[in-house]
Amino acid sequence: MFARQAVHALGNTARLFSTSAARQTKVAVLGASGGIGQPLSLLLKLDPLVSSLSLYDIRLAPGVAADVSHVDTPGEVNGYPADKLDEALEGVKIVVIPAGVPRKPGMTRDDLFNTNASIVRDLASAVARVAPEAYVLVISNPVNATVPIVASVFEKAGVFNPRRLFGVTTLDVVRAARFVSSASNVKPADAPITVVGGHSGVTIVPLLSQNSYGKAITGEKHEALVHRIQFGGDEVVDAKKGSGSATLSMAYAGAKFTNALLRGLNGEKGVVTPTFVKSKLYEDKGVDFFASNVELGKEGVEKIYPVGPISAEEEKLLETALPMLKSNIEMGRAFAAQS
Ligand code: NAD
Ligand code: LMR
Repeated sequence: MFARQAVHALGNTARLFSTSAARQTKVAVLGASGGIGQPLSLLLKLDPLVSSLSLYDIRLAPGVAADVSHVDTPGEVNGYPADKLDEALEGVKIVVIPAGVPRKPGMTRDDLFNTNASIVRDLASAVARVAPEAYVLVISNPVNATVPIVASVFEKAGVFNPRRLFGVTTLDVVRAARFVSSASNVKPADAPITVVGGHSGVTIVPLLSQNSYGKAITGEKHEALVHRIQFGGDEVVDAKKGSGSATLSMAYAGAKFTNALLRGLNGEKGVVTPTFVKSKLYEDKGVDFFASNVELGKEGVEKIYPVGPISAEEEKLLETALPMLKSNIEMGRAFAAQS
């Protein structure tokens, strides 16, 4: 019952329970023992579209796998210790990467770069070697820079396919729907908000004007709402007082995005959600990765949608976001080039 409810919350329908048998997929979680990795692994175990889970971490992954494996859903679960990364990646279709350090109060996501850039680079090298056709979902921060690092590693290995690389920005979308729904006293499902740009501070651009409830919030309330969506991560970091950043809501968002990708790969039509991908939308501004609505299909990225009609305020937010995004992307590319 719990599994059914949780999967329903992830956006699945009862239809998937009856049709999942022929559509099975092995998913790896790299960083599976962390604050995000553990609940994410549990939620993926509840997803009927995941037939097998490969849990890898530099510490404790076999223990996490033993624990998750007792949940009474069909998926198989295996855990791999630090020296078994290649084995963990064998035969995987999707690799989700939440490995890396989280923020403490007073830090920006960019402050994580020095540690997380090399973690992501090394994991990406292994994926490029062992599972070059896998779909890679990057959660590790700063996403605006870690995604270009993965792209560079795959390019160097001669296996980059831009349709298969995603920065997970779903938490911004989840927050936006939640905050707008609270302010408007409606259900979150009735207030879907497209969030474009990137995943840090002012690079997060919520398009409130495109939803009737979002549009109805004006003046100071509008400004406060935009700020809360852009800096929602800081709210959690501060409340956790030094013990980390968002883990549970992120696990939910990561499982939700993984499920959306699986539905697209399985041929479901009309699966559209924002995600940070290689994109031509703002290439003329030097920004070649950008989050906007993306249709997910049998080969991954099926179609990248432009931002669409936006308000004058949103134009300004976008103008502020683009140079910051450009510099974040360049930082990732430069790091990968030196490596
Ligand atoms: P955490 O410290 O609780 O867990 C990280 C895990 O990564 C640990 O278990 C650690 O052992 C593991 N790890 C470190 N190096 C590794 C390696 N080389 N290979 C495999 N595993 C390795 O941190 P967390 O709270 O789970 O956050 C993880 C990352 O996710 C952080 O960078 C955080 O900023 C980011 N994050 C992103 C979003 C988003 O919206 N994209 C949201 C929340 C957090
Ligand atoms: C978030 O948005 O919660 C994450 O990116 C973690 C963070 O550092 O804020």
